[in-house]
Amino acid sequence: MKNYKIKIINKLLNINYTLICNEDEYILDLIEKSNYYIPYSCRSGNCSTCIAKILNKKGTVFQLKPNYLTKIQLLNNYILTCITIPTSNLTLLIK
Ligand code: FES
Repeated sequence: MKNYKIKIINKLLNINYTLICNEDEYILDLIEKSNYYIPYSCRSGNCSTCIAKILNKKGTVFQLKPNYLTKIQLLNNYILTCITIPTSNLTLLIK
């Protein structure tokens, strides 16, 4: 099984940590399992509370159908962490 490094940052909130994510693990589940917190609500891609932005240009993911992301958000590398698994190392900006 592959693992990927997931760096979570938000300079304004002084958040900067790196986690190791299995290739079949949702990013939000990993964050919770690791005793960190990001905002979330529905856990099914239907609210966008768990939104994050991929900052590394070569970052790739597999995301289930995100009902609450606009085409512009998708084009600008936004993801919903509750329905997204990594397919590369990622640097994520969280709110
Ligand atoms: S928690 Fe609602 S979309 Fe992720």
